[in-house]
Amino acid sequence: MAEIIGVGVIGTGWMGTAHSRAYLQAADRFSDSRIRARLVICADEIEARAQEARERFGFKRHTTQWQDVIRDPEVQVVNITTPNHRHLELATAAAAAGKHIFCEKPVGKSPAETAEIERVARNAGVLTFVGFNYRWAPMVQYARQMIREGKLGRITHFRSRFLAGYASSPETPLSWRFQHEFSGSGVSGDLLTHVVDMGLFLAGPMKQAVGNRETFIRRRPATGGTLSNVTNEDYVGALVQFANGAHGNLEVCRVIQGHKCDWSFEVEGTAGALNWNFERMNELNVFLPDQNSAHEGYTRLVSGPKYPFHERFNPAAGTGLGYDDLKTIETHHFLKSIAEKRQGEPGFADALRVAEVLHAIEASWETRSWQDVSAIHSQVVA
Ligand SMILES: NC(=O)c1ccc[n+]([C@@H]2O[C@H](COP(=O)([O-])OP(=O)(O)OC[C@H]3O[C@@H](n4cnc5c(N)ncnc54)[C@H](O)[C@@H]3O)[C@@H](O)[C@H]2O)c1
Repeated sequence: MAEIIGVGVIGTGWMGTAHSRAYLQAADRFSDSRIRARLVICADEIEARAQEARERFGFKRHTTQWQDVIRDPEVQVVNITTPNHRHLELATAAAAAGKHIFCEKPVGKSPAETAEIERVARNAGVLTFVGFNYRWAPMVQYARQMIREGKLGRITHFRSRFLAGYASSPETPLSWRFQHEFSGSGVSGDLLTHVVDMGLFLAGPMKQAVGNRETFIRRRPATGGTLSNVTNEDYVGALVQFANGAHGNLEVCRVIQGHKCDWSFEVEGTAGALNWNFERMNELNVFLPDQNSAHEGYTRLVSGPKYPFHERFNPAAGTGLGYDDLKTIETHHFLKSIAEKRQGEPGFADALRVAEVLHAIEASWETRSWQDVSAIHSQVVA
């Protein structure tokens, strides 16, 4: 028997369309699971976007009122892909209605809001999932497998950066991403969330952090062309210490020249090393010395059916996956967790672990000193 799960999507911009496509793709790529999404209703406050999503993806209905999605009796899962400032309100309403929630990162506009959303969902007993999509790349999955099997020995270093040039022109308009009111933090919530999640995923819990931030482009053209202030950060650099003794070095930026989506990590241990870059996401460079020093060097592995999930997309080695495929794998795991009535990973508890690290880094911007990564109190921050 196929398991059919009713889905409502709120916010049909970039991520809303990517998620809608992924619900359809997951049924095909993971057809043996017999789990299917039924696209019931999509909402966007811009009606043309909601209508276009209905027509493109085959939702039964569209609306400009997000409340219609939450109260729809056919909807079991609420998919939140609006800008960050709406996540708390939408997740709280969805949880109160007993709907399971897939929310894009950063779950809360601030670390404290993430804690509040995690608390609300946990108390309501609903299942949750978060868009830390890069975890699902076959070569990232394989990297984690190698680390878990101890192939790299004891992990000593995690170095990661997400250097994006999407806002490197001062002419890039002042969208919600550049305004604290709508986004909360800037690259901390936008890019550092992914980097910290990857650090936790690969190297384990972090216990201390210190960082700095910068806003390089302080004014951008707003609607009508007048220049307005950017009210969150373009850049964050941070040092972290892991509970297992490893040291980490993190850097994210949205205005850097020369980089497109240079999102990479390097992990070194006492017995080997590996590195990965999203721009070449189907490759993993692995260093495993074998006592033959003349041939010692990195080996470039290329994704293929041997690695997790690859065969779902292509039977041949070297025929690579892309960004949307990661969304498909992610969506399948979310739907599977709903079908099996168990909390999957990454859920809101994982987002909270990330938020705790971001909270420590953000606190260090003020204190200029190392901060312990510790539990944060849930609160709604304006
Ligand atoms: N995981 C990833 O790789 C990734 C990538 C990009 C964005 N994101 C996250 O996804 C979320 C959305 O980002 P995006 O790039 O898709 O933004 P976007 O601006 O492209 O789309 C957001 C959409 O939400 C709509 N919207 C706003 N308020 C609404 C409301 N109250 N009801 C209904 N619709 C509403 C807007 O009209 C817009 O169409 C953000 O939280 C962002 O951080 C994640």
